[in-house]
Amino acid sequence: MSDKIAYSRHGDIAVLSVRNPPVNALSQAVRQGLWDGMDRAEAETGVRAVLIVGEGRAFFAGADITEFGKPPLDPFLPDLINRIEASPLLVVASMHGVSLGGGLEVALGCHYRIAVPSARVGLPEVHLGLLPGAGGTQRLPRLTGVEAALDVMTTGRQIGAAQAHKIGIIDVVQDGDPTQNGIAYAEKLVAEDALRRPVSEMPLPTPIDWDAAFDATLTRSKGQISPAWCVRAVQAAYDGDFAAGLKAERQIFFDLMQTDQRKGMIHAFFSERAVGNLPELKGVEPRSIAHVGVIGGGTMGAGIATAALLAGLRVHLLEMTPKAGEAAHGRIAGNLAGALKRGKINADQHSAMLDQALQVVTEYDALSDADLVIEAVFEEMAVKKAVFAELDRVCKPGAILASNTSYLDINEIAASTSRPGDVLGLHFFSPAHVMKLLEVVVADQTAPDVAATGFALGKALGKIPVRAGVCDGFIGNRILSTYRTCADHMILDGASPFEIDAALEAFGFAMGPFAVADLAGLDIGWAGRKRKRAEGLDPRARDVTYADKLCEAGHFGQKTGKGYYDYADGPKARVPNPDVLPLIEAERAAQGITPRTFTVDEITRRYMAAMVNEAAKVVGEGIARRPLDVDMTLLFGYGFPRYRGGPLKWADIDGLAGLLSDIEGYAETDPYFWAPAPLLCQLVADGQTFDDVNKKG
Ligand code: CAA
Repeated sequence: MSDKIAYSRHGDIAVLSVRNPPVNALSQAVRQGLWDGMDRAEAETGVRAVLIVGEGRAFFAGADITEFGKPPLDPFLPDLINRIEASPLLVVASMHGVSLGGGLEVALGCHYRIAVPSARVGLPEVHLGLLPGAGGTQRLPRLTGVEAALDVMTTGRQIGAAQAHKIGIIDVVQDGDPTQNGIAYAEKLVAEDALRRPVSEMPLPTPIDWDAAFDATLTRSKGQISPAWCVRAVQAAYDGDFAAGLKAERQIFFDLMQTDQRKGMIHAFFSERAVGNLPELKGVEPRSIAHVGVIGGGTMGAGIATAALLAGLRVHLLEMTPKAGEAAHGRIAGNLAGALKRGKINADQHSAMLDQALQVVTEYDALSDADLVIEAVFEEMAVKKAVFAELDRVCKPGAILASNTSYLDINEIAASTSRPGDVLGLHFFSPAHVMKLLEVVVADQTAPDVAATGFALGKALGKIPVRAGVCDGFIGNRILSTYRTCADHMILDGASPFEIDAALEAFGFAMGPFAVADLAGLDIGWAGRKRKRAEGLDPRARDVTYADKLCEAGHFGQKTGKGYYDYADGPKARVPNPDVLPLIEAERAAQGITPRTFTVDEITRRYMAAMVNEAAKVVGEGIARRPLDVDMTLLFGYGFPRYRGGPLKWADIDGLAGLLSDIEGYAETDPYFWAPAPLLCQLVADGQTFDDVNKKG
């Protein structure tokens, strides 16, 4: 038998213990081991029941995702589960940790299920662009009814043991050791002469309006198709017998396996985990962080302080005056009240955070004991340097000094202190207690353990930390600035902001770039344009000024009620601001441009080409270590659709040669903006992809 399964006997119970760390993924060896274990239990005399239990952290985390996209290996999971269910012996699953995807499907193939209270179950296949493909869509509704089953499989969310018991997935919830619990439960069932209880033989619950459910799910999942296909797979249960339903489910599973969405989502799954695994940080011990200082209590500073409090850290927040301090305290209290309301923390934790862990101060000396200080003050080099001079004066040796700047030169900031090795950038995204992305900006002299601490802090705060090098805008804002410029060029040439937003939202972005600008505040982009003009624009660069006129008129987007859109009826009820198109037309006239029409495809193509080209430059220059670091930056900070995997995964799937050829075509009219990235040219010449670069590490 496979060494992934330990077989033992406890009287008339045969125990199959799964040993496939870290999370008992159902690899081929595990499937074979379970199959052989069932054979052995059935062949041995005196066995009346089989217990399946996981060793280590979990029952099963599901199919082995590393096997996806490769030829399927025998024994196939659906066959194994059918074989378990068809056993003449009683089969019991004892669940702890997670039982996800194929893992829950194995449990559904067993005749009885017991779980510890901390166990969690779910069918997260939709997060991989798939659906439950080993009978989950056919068995789960028979236990829970259609609505509850569709909720579990279309959202992919995990539910706790108590809830799973309530809706009929788990028979018994009991604290204790999973193996001992399982054996005792199996013995009890045997003693009671309990009957085998194959879920596949249970009657189907009341059907629902399938078309309405399909349409509603498709709308909810914003372009992602696999959740809606869960509806069709469940519907198939009603078109024939159980075997026919399984066959239909399998067909949909294989069809989804072929999709680009599946490729994108599996890339996102592994990249999300790889992003924090940097060779240079292997074996580097991070400094310990229990006490954090935050300078500045505006939206960003208050958000950072909230994130630190939620992670259980002690926080000193520094403001310049008691009045500003009071306002900052109010913002943090508001954020924590939201966390309390959403059930992220309980009332005791809430008051401990607000009344004990947080202190608002107005003197730098109060930061002398902090392990790490993050400044979130005004974006001006002179202001930042003044802050860092104070920090240099008061902070204890070994304290880490971090800037939340979104584009300023961290090397220059670091050089203004006597301890540049302790300085790094920690670039949060607003609202900082919600947004997952954290750019860890490693400057020339940042010590390795300081960089490692940035990553450790990011993980402690529940963020996705991405390593970035120093340049204007780091990874994310630099790429954003380029694709935004591309959008502005299209506007000069004839497209409207509203057409561009609609095209990109149809592509899958949460919001188009102009709606995003309205949300962030148009003053931010305005300040950036003024700064760049003051530094001197390249004479070959096209300048775009119509947006400045909106700002000059006091329209900064949502916060003033008007920007590209009018928000008179609230932030969600945006309508195009009628002042915008005349401003654009005036600028076109002033620049002597005859507008032309842009199709949705051309808008998307140019926008994505600009994004990918700049991203390739960012990777080529070493600002991002690997293409996957760019992909995760755009996914977690910029609303890029997860099901496309990220811009560079999208480019790989779309084809790099075609993209480069389009960029070269665009460059004929604007060679400055569309200069192809050397890395992109190199990959096309070598017939390689961005994923090949990822694999080099
Ligand atoms: N297959 C292969 N590897 C897996 C895996 C899986 N199903 N699940 C997790 N891993 C790996 C991770 O890649 C990671 O590897 P590294 O240490 O090399 O990076 C390791 O196991 C630990 O995972 P995490 O770092 O994510 O640990 P965690 O404790 O934070 O989370 C988890 C554990 C909740 C199981 C999480 O990993 C997870 O959600 N896994 C995916 C579960 C899933 O989607 N299952 C469905 C699979 S599809 C399916 O089953 C289809 C079907 O119907 C046949």
